[in-house]
Amino acid sequence: MKVVVTGASGGIGAALVAKQVNLGNDVIAVSSKTSTNGIATPDDGAQWLLNCPPAEYGMTLRPLLQQSLPNTVFHCCGVLHQNGLMPEKALRQFSPAQLLDNINANCIAAVNLLQVLEPHFNRQSQCKIIVLSAKVGSIEDNYLGGWHSYRMSKAALNMAIKTVSIEWRRRFPGVTVVAVHPGTTDSTLSQPFQKNVPASQLASAATTADRLSALAGQLSAEDSGALLHWDGSKIPF
Ligand SMILES: NC(=O)c1ccc[n+]([C@@H]2O[C@H](COP(=O)([O-])OP(=O)(O)OC[C@H]3O[C@@H](n4cnc5c(N)ncnc54)[C@H](OP(=O)(O)O)[C@@H]3O)[C@@H](O)[C@H]2O)c1
Repeated sequence: MKVVVTGASGGIGAALVAKQVNLGNDVIAVSSKTSTNGIATPDDGAQWLLNCPPAEYGMTLRPLLQQSLPNTVFHCCGVLHQNGLMPEKALRQFSPAQLLDNINANCIAAVNLLQVLEPHFNRQSQCKIIVLSAKVGSIEDNYLGGWHSYRMSKAALNMAIKTVSIEWRRRFPGVTVVAVHPGTTDSTLSQPFQKNVPASQLASAATTADRLSALAGQLSAEDSGALLHWDGSKIPF
């Protein structure tokens, strides 16, 4: 099996690379980082495509897509906080710049990737695309408020996945694309917020990689367009 992981240097991304290599798959790891130092060992068994900004993950993959399609794609790119800028607690903290950064990392990078994959699909193609989203991007499930930019960008991502799935359903019936909440996972992204999370609800990145790998095996065409928990249950939009 050929597997692509984008955002591969992140907590969940790197754990998925390791998991998929362990499963014996042919893994292509795409990352904006310039080196795998501290992320993977040089002989980890994956093919790393480095120095690739999220908007260009797909472009970087293009020559490899011409050889053969991946069976599974895990898009693990996203941002919640960066450069000391934390998610908003109240409307007065909102800034267009923060929203645009979040939209770029959490939504546009995924849509760009789908756009590059699309010309390689046909009616016979079999491919599962798991785009990491977040439950807080569910409008119906928003009981707490806050995190305005992150919520908006993930809601936009969920809408993009649903919209693309409708466009692809008849043209590429064997291609499944879903938005997935990985569950709260120990990573750089969640680190500042972990003190509010009971230990039983904080998964290691390796556990999340196991769960997402199992989910990929269970997905079928009927799931396409959905927003799912890591266990495959549906989250309302
Ligand atoms: N951890 C959680 O509890 C949790 C919960 C819900 C949803 N998620 C979602 O799961 C996905 C993976 O999260 P993670 O926990 O693995 O996060 P992470 O460790 O921070 O990794 C995120 C990766 O996204 C890429 N990226 C693109 N733009 C970025 C930016 N401006 N700042 C930082 N990283 C950027 C980077 O990959 P490269 O440098 O390799 O390109 C980075 O390594 C994200 O979409 C996140 O929203 C995570």
